[in-house]
Amino acid sequence: MAKKNISMYFCQECGNETSKWMGQCPACGAWNSLVEELVDKKTQVKLSKNTELKTSRLSEVDANFDVRITTDIREFDRVLGGGIVPGSMVLVGGDPGIGKSTLLLQTCQRLCIGGTSVLYISGEESLAQIKIRANRLGEFNDNLHLLCETNLDDIKLVIEKEKPTVAIIDSIQTMYNESVSSAPGSVSQVRESTGVLMEIAKGLGITVFIVGHVTKEGTVAGPRVLEHMVDTVLYFEGDRHASYRILRGVKNRFGSTNEIGVFEMRECGLCEVANPSEFMLDGRPQDASGSIVTCSMEGTRPILVEIQSLVSSTAFEIPRRMATGCDYNRVNLIIAVLERLKDQNTKKNCGVFLGKSDVYVNIAGGIKINEPSTDLGIALAIYSSYKDITVDPYTICFGEIGLSGEVRSVSMAEQRILEAKKLGFKNCIVPGSNLKTMSKISGINVVGVSTVKEAVDYISK
Ligand code: TYD
Ligand code: MG
Repeated sequence: MAKKNISMYFCQECGNETSKWMGQCPACGAWNSLVEELVDKKTQVKLSKNTELKTSRLSEVDANFDVRITTDIREFDRVLGGGIVPGSMVLVGGDPGIGKSTLLLQTCQRLCIGGTSVLYISGEESLAQIKIRANRLGEFNDNLHLLCETNLDDIKLVIEKEKPTVAIIDSIQTMYNESVSSAPGSVSQVRESTGVLMEIAKGLGITVFIVGHVTKEGTVAGPRVLEHMVDTVLYFEGDRHASYRILRGVKNRFGSTNEIGVFEMRECGLCEVANPSEFMLDGRPQDASGSIVTCSMEGTRPILVEIQSLVSSTAFEIPRRMATGCDYNRVNLIIAVLERLKDQNTKKNCGVFLGKSDVYVNIAGGIKINEPSTDLGIALAIYSSYKDITVDPYTICFGEIGLSGEVRSVSMAEQRILEAKKLGFKNCIVPGSNLKTMSKISGINVVGVSTVKEAVDYISK
């Protein structure tokens, strides 16, 4: 009987498959993301007859993840959890043009200098284009081998022949597997290709880096569809117009997630930013109301960021609320809390009325922060803008805000305070409950507050 292809519809965002086209993906809720693909109709159920299979005891397994290969780029090593684990698979996702190829080529450069053999496979650029990029990045040695190819069967043969320590696939969306009939970049191709690469990685102990473009339109499958297959998922993000880039660990089987690496895109490639707080606070306005510095933990690292707010009377029926870099709903919640502040003694409401004001909140520098410890900073920035009072520029604050206006404790308060001290801050407004469990830190004035009211009173002094 002739092989028959049937068509299925795949969501390009999450990879969910349905037999009919729909306007909205039932799994992830993305609109207009379903694309038709042909899949081979073959029976996939295979009964295993292998009776030789043996189970193992945990004590018999010998796992040595300590033999990591360092990339010599500290920010990159940190996000990987201390270096490259041999035989692992790492997905580097990000918007087109953000600098994924640059980062990986730079990693190749460092790895080669360290004596590691690297195979860089590009399906997007020609050898000449890679050469031009490499010229901008500096000296390369002969440990780096290049290949411009998109056929995975050929790539597999080359990898098996050359046996590099690290292989880089510059963009999984350009790769294709002849056994799959759909076009390169489609969900089935991307999945199948990743499966093949996974076999290579696990079978030969080669570390494979995969580049995946995050796409806005539904024509190319995003890296999300293969997040579950790989060991480590890193996203390279940043404002296209700003020069800094953040490499964020989203999943890591060999280390902690939420770690970030900060880079700056320069003329000669990416440079590490060793002290991101300084970088984020650069250009802070002096004596301006609505601005306060807070400290957020990104993985194990504290980062100081400036929160700005602008409160102005509205020209509309319904006031505008805008949040850039932080959660919109969180800002609305904090506005509601500010409207209901209670005086401790008189128990009367002494909140600020924002029902007739537009409120804009922005985390300066374009960084996105989702940590609740920035709540207090957002509240104080809004309050300071509304009352038009300037917060002392050497003051930082952090704390999570609860619905009844209490300031709740946050994790790693000491590290945050020490980071502020390192950058020359003099005062620190922290949750009172944190103060109880913390050892004393000299050289910085630490003020504990238990309610938002206490915090606003402190900055209004
Ligand atoms: P690229 O690595 O090609 O992005 P991706 O692979 O994620 O699509 O990055 C391209 C951008 O980086 C491009 O806009 C130019 C800029 N760039 C520099 O500013 N300096 C450099 O040294 C290099 C190599 C690129
Ligand atoms: Mg690229």
